[in-house]
Amino acid sequence: MIDYMQKFRLDNKKAFVMGGLGLIGKQVSIAYSMAGSQLTVLDLDETEGESFKNEMKESGFDISFVHFDCSDNKQITEYFLTIIEKYGCPDIFINCSYPRTKEWGNSSFKNITIDADLIKSFIICNVIL
Ligand SMILES: NC(=O)c1ccc[n+]([C@@H]2O[C@H](COP(=O)([O-])OP(=O)(O)OC[C@H]3O[C@@H](n4cnc5c(N)ncnc54)[C@H](O)[C@@H]3O)[C@@H](O)[C@H]2O)c1
Repeated sequence: MIDYMQKFRLDNKKAFVMGGLGLIGKQVSIAYSMAGSQLTVLDLDETEGESFKNEMKESGFDISFVHFDCSDNKQITEYFLTIIEKYGCPDIFINCSYPRTKEWGNSSFKNITIDADLIKSFIICNVIL
């Protein structure tokens, strides 16, 4: 019988989850760790980052946490390159961040989803490629 779950294993793959401490991001981070990837969480919240790292260690997962602010699209390339230098280039990149800036409350759906979230992902994927 084919072991289908084995086909979904991500051993020896590096996964970066941006916003990996949020409601969705944490579960994505746990899932990618369980699948065997070497996980790095990029998030704004340093205190929660350290606490999540310890929590994961207690469950047997050795993850990395990097303080990362994705709100400034102009600096994101430079910032992301320094992380790649230290942690290596990811095979998998997932954006689960929700950067609520000062303008967030007055922003339209297009401003948030396309101009902010999607463009950030494109900028970072461009750096990775
Ligand atoms: N929760 C839902 O029901 C739901 C449904 C559909 C879509 N979404 C989308 O999924 C994404 C995540 O939602 P969520 O509910 O997990 O949000 P959340 O607020 O629980 O988590 C967001 C995470 O992003 C981090 N973050 C905030 N600003 C950041 C910054 N400048 N740089 C780096 N990290 C930053 C936060 O620290 C947090 O860990 C959002 O884009 C949201 O629109 C959520």
